[in-house]
Amino acid sequence: MATAAAHETRTAEEDTTTGAYEHAFDAAVAAEERIEPRDWMPDAYRATLVRQMAQHAHSEIIGMQPEANWITRAPSLRRKAILMAKVQDEAGHGLYLYSAAETLGTGRDELLDKLHSGRQKYSSIFNYPTLTWADVGAIGWLVDGAAITNQVPLCRCSYGPYARAMVRICKEESFHQRQGYELLLALSRGTAEQHAMAQDAVDRWWWPSLMMFGPPDDESAHSAQSMTWKIKRHSNDELRQRFVDICVPQAASLGLTLPDPELRWNEERGRHDFGPIDWSEFREVLKGNGPCNEQRLTQRRRAHEEGAWVREAAAAYAAKQTTGGAEGERA
Ligand SMILES: [Fe+2]
Ligand SMILES: [Fe+2]
Repeated sequence: MATAAAHETRTAEEDTTTGAYEHAFDAAVAAEERIEPRDWMPDAYRATLVRQMAQHAHSEIIGMQPEANWITRAPSLRRKAILMAKVQDEAGHGLYLYSAAETLGTGRDELLDKLHSGRQKYSSIFNYPTLTWADVGAIGWLVDGAAITNQVPLCRCSYGPYARAMVRICKEESFHQRQGYELLLALSRGTAEQHAMAQDAVDRWWWPSLMMFGPPDDESAHSAQSMTWKIKRHSNDELRQRFVDICVPQAASLGLTLPDPELRWNEERGRHDFGPIDWSEFREVLKGNGPCNEQRLTQRRRAHEEGAWVREAAAAYAAKQTTGGAEGERA
């Protein structure tokens, strides 16, 4: 039939066009060029990026909570000012990343809705409690340290807006890592009680930090495709190993030990061997059964509801601006 034939022809033409686009996309990725928002990209590439950037953005804003818990109890004005700046930075990181996700056509409202309803995840690390002041130091040194190890390679991610957001974020993460290290050093060199507090915090945060790199390579569902697309540059296990090798000498300088009896230098590999990770704990926390999952999400939903008037006011102001300068001002 004529219509069916015409339809078939169109489909074939579309296929040829898509094929050409796909070829151009693959060539750009292979040549280390950046993919920009208006470029053609495979649907799965777009979906992978939105999922990853959303999870990353959610982690930044949920990650404000465990440390904000200590702002009112910081031991000095200097420590309070540093901690407030750090927590604000994390809010900023969330904003860069939600904006980067918006360039792919997914709005912030939709992503926040998925976070609040539990349909999208955030990093499992933020479901652990901050029990003492030393936890602020351990988070800065280990959690921000692990984040940097993960994120520096993302500065070369094939998607332009994500890569550029990461450049800025990594600079701020370096400050976070240094402040954590410096805080722990002060405690470690302090009284016996302060030293013990620092050691206890490191004992509790070490293993969850290693889990931040995600499941072992042979169980990582999305890794291979993300590496082909140059969203990801190194495997989970490779980054985890890199992090362990960085931390061991730093722990020695801090005068603290890492809670792993199997941790030792392997001359042959030129790297550190370390003990097995308890992946059942990781899976439980991911499932929502960590010590603070409930508390973090409840607090996030409450903050969103309490901020409704700010969003409404900002939208009303923006609407006034678009209806026209002076007239808008008088309205
Ligand atoms: Fe951050
Ligand atoms: Fe940070």
